Amino acid sequence: VVRPPLGDVSGLPIVGPFAENWANVQKFQAGEGDVLIDTYPKSGTTWISEIVDLILQNGDKKKAQRGAIFERVPFLEFAVPKIPTGTEVLNAIEPPRVIKSHLSVQTLPNTFWEKNCKVIYVARNLKDVLVSYYHFNRMAPVFPDPGTFEEFLQSFIEGKVAYGSWSDHVKDWWKIRQERDILYLFYEDMLEDPRREIMKVLNFMNKKLPDEIVEKILKHTSFQAMKENPKTNYTAIPSTIMDQSVSPFMRKGICGDWKNHFTVSQSERLDEYYQKEMSGTDLSFRFLV
Ligand code: A3P
Repeated sequence: VVRPPLGDVSGLPIVGPFAENWANVQKFQAGEGDVLIDTYPKSGTTWISEIVDLILQNGDKKKAQRGAIFERVPFLEFAVPKIPTGTEVLNAIEPPRVIKSHLSVQTLPNTFWEKNCKVIYVARNLKDVLVSYYHFNRMAPVFPDPGTFEEFLQSFIEGKVAYGSWSDHVKDWWKIRQERDILYLFYEDMLEDPRREIMKVLNFMNKKLPDEIVEKILKHTSFQAMKENPKTNYTAIPSTIMDQSVSPFMRKGICGDWKNHFTVSQSERLDEYYQKEMSGTDLSFRFLV
């Protein structure tokens, strides 16, 4: 398999074939009531997408918004040859829709702000993101070959991976969270108390659901349930996009797996990077739950 090199959109590195479809992402029109889910990759996108759409379907697992092919929620900038692109899929669905994206504040099309869309952002600590992203880059041939763990770690620190710098992404979304209609969540909080976080989402979406439906959503969105569910574990995706024989998409779903991957010195480099990048913000992350 020949892995395409990263492309670039307004200074943000993204998956090569995604960059080739950029004109259609820029032309995309959000609609009244659309909800955007945004994350840096590997921060719990699939998890929160499942929660949000299940809330809209009142906990009915069999129902899902129309259109999405491999997943519940269409992926805005997704584009690989021979498969409908994210924008094609979305343009065929009437708003209000749930849409997911990994775009930075700077590259997200203005249409989402013009239409006053609600945004749910999920952030995850950089060490677990790095480990998860390393395995994901290994199994997803549309991403560049990550090389060794050490090589990937270096590229990650330099922001030379798809979607660029983790710290810019989480900080820029954090900065605008109060100016816009944004719910900023943390993967670690979702692990610690998923019910509490689901209630935050319900509240943000101005929705009320009876306890038994909330229970149902909790059950359907546990790691084990999502790992076993073919609609959420991405096993329907062709191996040219995700080769799960290399590493499963639903890999571990925990906080602290970084301890099994980093040497002491690698961990210290990441601590140093984190201290430097986070100085001057009141944004902070937990590395163990
Ligand atoms: P790991 O690789 O650490 O296991 P994304 O959806 O943004 O690509 O993020 C994928 C990560 O979220 C993977 O992390 C995956 O296992 C984890 N994940 C997905 N569903 C989850 C759930 N219900 N509970 C906990 N973690 C989940």
